[in-house]
Parts: sequence; structure tokens; C-alpha cells
Amino acid sequence: EKGGYDHFMLKEIFEQPTTIYDCLRGRLDAAAGTITMAGVQQYAEQIINANRIVIIACGTSWHAGLVAEYIIEELCRINVEVEYASEFRYRNPVINKGDVIIAISQSGETADTLVAIESAKEKGAIILGVVNVVGSSIARASHAGAYTHAGPEIGVASTKAFTAQLTVLMMIALKVGYMKGSISNDRYRQLLNELDAVPEKAAWVLNHHEHIKSIAEKYKDARDFLYLGRGYNFAIALEGALKLKEISYIHAEGYPAAEMKHGPIALVDENLPVVFVATKDIYHEKVVSNMQEIKARKGKLLAVITEGDETSKAICDDVMIVPEADEVIAPLINVIPLQLLSYYIGVAKGCNVDMPRNLAKSVTVE
Ligand code: M6R
Repeated sequence: EKGGYDHFMLKEIFEQPTTIYDCLRGRLDAAAGTITMAGVQQYAEQIINANRIVIIACGTSWHAGLVAEYIIEELCRINVEVEYASEFRYRNPVINKGDVIIAISQSGETADTLVAIESAKEKGAIILGVVNVVGSSIARASHAGAYTHAGPEIGVASTKAFTAQLTVLMMIALKVGYMKGSISNDRYRQLLNELDAVPEKAAWVLNHHEHIKSIAEKYKDARDFLYLGRGYNFAIALEGALKLKEISYIHAEGYPAAEMKHGPIALVDENLPVVFVATKDIYHEKVVSNMQEIKARKGKLLAVITEGDETSKAICDDVMIVPEADEVIAPLINVIPLQLLSYYIGVAKGCNVDMPRNLAKSVTVE
């Protein structure tokens, strides 16, 4: 059942070129320039005219929501808020009729997310579910939605479900942005082609797993890790840190790279690995200067960088290289080396990576 892999987590990481492809299949037609999503189509008017979109989720699914916030705001020019389901449900949030809520959940059974959307629904919000498990409670409680089609995820740490969530959310953003007219035809067509190329690029990253394994061996005894990124990759830094905590029990924190000066930089010494998500995008120059600041304080500098970026490579202790991708699409690829890094560190430390202590696959009690 593990298909020849040592763990479900590794199998699921390696399935991503296929699961992303399956998620795109039947929806994205790059040649025709179309995205077919019946659930989104059905509520198209309401979404386009929404005053705001509220994304509700927990854990890794919440990180997918954060990436989506940046992308939807950029492509659709609609205000997006991302909420932890547990906070949203208890604080008497302001919900106006016509607000659009996107609930993201792998299992479709997370109690806090379910209750949050049920109460928002009573107040007149439209609920779109981005869910992996077909027929699950959150899928049923939603007005419409789009399944992620990643197949069963057994590893407690979410991997392929996360990239499938990002794939669906990117398609929603593109479809809505195009219908609304907030992105140009050229940009739309360009991003469809970029999305279409993701399965191939994900496979390229996975082919370089041996190199990431050697990095894992080198840093497995660190006590703490810091993960930093900006913009579209800020949430990927958070996700990298969460994955490492869950799988290896190493303390890790993720921050927006510019926040480091406001506190976290005090942690930096020669023992601290700092992992930057530093692929080429509009923030790149700023990220490189943050990297130099870490280096000046003797932190161990690791980074996910774009193929061919020799300047960044030269200042890092170790790099994880990914193929060039449009900045909007890049988070989908950039998370994969971080999943592998956590996996190999967890295995090197002898941890039970498929079933980390104290965690359950779905949190059905609050
Ligand atoms: O099934 P859900 O997506 O609603 O689950 C949300 C979180 O419980 C989940 O992402 C959790 O954080 C994972 N262990 C992350 O790897």
C-alpha cells in the first residue's frame, strides 16, 4: 500500500506531479484558455461582486489560505481575510449577507472549520468548500465548491493535499480574475500555461531528492530552525516550519522575512539554520538583503532558490534548487523541497513520520 516507499509521507510527496495533474485535469485547458469549475461558475456573480472573501481553515490548510489571499487580491482585486477557524467561530465575527467564505479542509471533518461555516451560513454568507474527501461534512455543508482530488492522504502531515489546495485556489483566482476583468487576457493565458507546467516542474524537484537528503543529514541535530519568506512565499515559510515541527520535533518558526528585525533575529547564532524561500520574484532583492543580514550574524544559511540564480547560491551554505516559475505559481513548487527536507530530517532522527506523537489526522474535537 506504500507503493514501494518507506513511508506514506514519502509516497504522498512523490505523488504530487500526478495529484496536481489530476487536480488540473478536466478543469484547466491552457490551449483553449478555459477553466471549468461548475461550483465557482454557479456563484460567479456573487463572487465577482463580493465586498470581501473570508478564508477559513486550520493548520496546513490555513497556510494554503494565506497563499490564496495574496493571489486572489492580486488577480481579482477583492479584499481577502484569512481566519483560523477556531478563532473565527468563537468571536462573534462580522458577517454580511453576500460575503463569500472559502472553507479549506483536507479531511472535510475538522470540527472548528465545520462549525465556523455553519454559523456563517446562518448569517447569509455563501460557502465554497475546497475539500479533499468527497462527501465529507464540510463538503456537504458548503453551497458549492471544488474538490482537490488528491486521493486519500494517510500521512498525518499534509503534503499532497496542500499542493492540491493551492492548485484549486489558483484556478479559482484565475477564473474569477478573468471573469471580473481584473487581469489581462495575456496575463491570464500566461498563468494558465504556467499552471499547466507545474506537474513537470514538481517532478524535476523530486528528481533532486538525494541532494535534499544530504542537506537533512547535515542539519538534523539543530535544536531550532527559522523559516523566512516574503509575499507569495511567506506562507510557504510557515508551512516549512510546521512540517519540520510535526515530523522531526525540532522547534521551528516561520516569519515574513522582514519581520526578523523585529525580534527573531536575536535568535541567530552559528548554530541556527535559517531557511529562506528565495525564488526569483518581485521581492527577491529584499530577500537577498535579509539573507545577507543572517550571514553577517553567522547563521547557517539555507535557501530554496531558482535554477541559475548563482548570486544567491554563492552566499548560502546550502541550496535547494527549483525550476523557474511565475511568482504567482511558484509557492506550489517551492513547498516541495521543504516537505522533503522535513521528511528526511524526521527519518534521520528516527521519528515516526507517518504518525507523529500527539497528532491525529483530523481534529474532530475542538
Ligand atoms: O483536514 P484539515 O485540512 O481541515 O486539517 C487541518 C489541520 O488539522 C491539518 O492541516 C494539520 O495542521 C496537519 N497535521 C498539517 O500537516
